[in-house]
Amino acid sequence: MKGIILAGGAGSRLYPLTLVASKQLQPVYDKPMVYYPLTTLIEGGIRDICLISTPQDLPRFRQLLGDGSRFGLTIDYREQAKPEGIAQAFLIAESFIGNDSVALILGDNIFYGGDTFQRAFADFKSGATIFGYHVNDPERYGVVEFDAQGKAVSIEEKPKSPKSNFAVPGLYIYDNEVVCITKALQPSARGELEITAVNVEYLRRGALHVQRLARGFAWLDAGTSSSLHDASAYVQTIEKRAGIKIGCPEEAAFRQGFVSLVQLEDIVGKIPNCEYRAYLEAEVIAEARRLQ
Ligand code: G1P
Repeated sequence: MKGIILAGGAGSRLYPLTLVASKQLQPVYDKPMVYYPLTTLIEGGIRDICLISTPQDLPRFRQLLGDGSRFGLTIDYREQAKPEGIAQAFLIAESFIGNDSVALILGDNIFYGGDTFQRAFADFKSGATIFGYHVNDPERYGVVEFDAQGKAVSIEEKPKSPKSNFAVPGLYIYDNEVVCITKALQPSARGELEITAVNVEYLRRGALHVQRLARGFAWLDAGTSSSLHDASAYVQTIEKRAGIKIGCPEEAAFRQGFVSLVQLEDIVGKIPNCEYRAYLEAEVIAEARRLQ
């Protein structure tokens, strides 16, 4: 399975912060926002990743993540010239996807808790798998309605009168049909190829699986100053309490076996002296050495 991180958009809701760096490069507590979705893909066992961003911001992502080898990945970079919708990612990345299935994650979505995604990636066979998460402001999102048996019966994008409180988070898994489906889409009223229209088509075909995320699971989106602050506070609280890091791609890559202990030691040796390095040395490397 291939992975796409979509980190486009003007980030106008975060102005003037976005004059300095794009939204997905803003700090969420102790690391850039894009580290979190990147870690989610690594934890799902995905090694081939395509990062899509605007022509202005792409060089900064390249500078940050390079060719991906320090995380045991290959990272391709592609441009989205204009914000013409989430689903446009499948057209931009068509040659990258090839004949494979693909997981798309939005660069401003932060997930924490449980192994639902890992299992969903591992169990995926065909069709589409998306998720439903209970929120108090569903009108801001794609909204999925379930029948009494828990089967998804409708999906609407930012409805004025939501039919449920279940929002669709920005992580989607599709079979290769997604490219054809996207090619047949017409832009919506806001001029975008809507990801919800892709999901509606899978639903029409009877091939959409919607998994509800458990209550203990955290889904944060960091697209406004206030939600960015909340996300930072959340990450700080968990990290301080548990002595672990959320969204640490070096650690995830090591735990997935994408980099060996020796490679990790070499990578960490190049990080300047800081709390991030101290964490990797004490909690990941020393721990792994102890268990050897
Ligand atoms: C997009 C999708 C929406 C989804 C949301 C998740 O919204 O269109 O269906 O629920 O991401 O973050 P947007 O980022 O365009 O507000």
